[in-house]
Amino acid sequence: MLEGFPARRTGDVLQKKVDLYDNAYGNYEWDAYRQVRIETYGEDFGQTSWVTTEESNKIPKLLGLGINSSVLEIGCGSGGYGLHLAEVVGCSLVGLDINAPGIHNANQLALARGLDSRATFRQCDVSHGLPFGDRTFDAVFSNDVLCHIPGRAKILGEMFRVLKPGGRMLFSDALVVGGMVSHEEIATRSSIGFYVYSPPGENERLIQGAGFRQIDVTDTTESAARIAERWHQAREKRKQALTAAEGEINFEGLQRFLSCVHSLTSERRLLRYLYCATKEG
Ligand SMILES: C[S@@+](CC[C@H](N)C(=O)[O-])C[C@H]1O[C@@H](n2cnc3c(N)ncnc32)[C@H](O)[C@@H]1O
Repeated sequence: MLEGFPARRTGDVLQKKVDLYDNAYGNYEWDAYRQVRIETYGEDFGQTSWVTTEESNKIPKLLGLGINSSVLEIGCGSGGYGLHLAEVVGCSLVGLDINAPGIHNANQLALARGLDSRATFRQCDVSHGLPFGDRTFDAVFSNDVLCHIPGRAKILGEMFRVLKPGGRMLFSDALVVGGMVSHEEIATRSSIGFYVYSPPGENERLIQGAGFRQIDVTDTTESAARIAERWHQAREKRKQALTAAEGEINFEGLQRFLSCVHSLTSERRLLRYLYCATKEG
């Protein structure tokens, strides 16, 4: 411990871990959670991210998906969006996520919708690498997940490796630092798990370093601010039902997290970017 910095002082601002994913995926079918998703995003893909429906609808085109595409989704959560792609595009898709309730939910939904021959979901901690051979997929994407993975260069290298030549990749990062952020804000913004914050330009440098070309970057900070505000409001309206499911401490912790995301992104002190690139063949 550093002299003059007793644990109590630093501990004062450490937020207790708040659960987002176990509750969101484990309670996927609950009406209160479904209503929150519909009110937040418009269309319910089981999201726990900052992806607007408009962005969701653009992804197939950005990735150049067609009926014969084989697609990898990193951090698929509850599986709702991957299944939507398999359904509307007709592509085949593998989804990976570390969260067991998310993967259970995704495979149940695939069965229920008759998509299990085209869409499969596996529990996997992708920080250890992607469990596929070289040049397996036509497209790889990851919505608001890479911020949770230690080693950005390694995961980008893995995404490059499993793509076929000519394949497209896409990911979003809501943790690009755009201004002054206090230690309390960092603690609250990080209260739901492991996070990596990056300086502007670092993702572009690492994407290029992994071998990708034709790098395209879109600033989506404003839509992240909008989603955070709507999500907070939709949850507040259903406080009683959500408190019964999550417990009061978790409910309030998640509300603080969402308010923090809203103020940081609406003031552009944290930025969200969407990155697309090609593995040239
Ligand atoms: C912000 S959520 C996004 C989920 C989904 N992509 C969406 O748009 O709703 C981040 C997801 O990353 C997953 N995740 C976190 N760390 C991971 C890891 N090491 N390996 C695989 N998935 C991970 C979480 O379980 C969670 O489902």
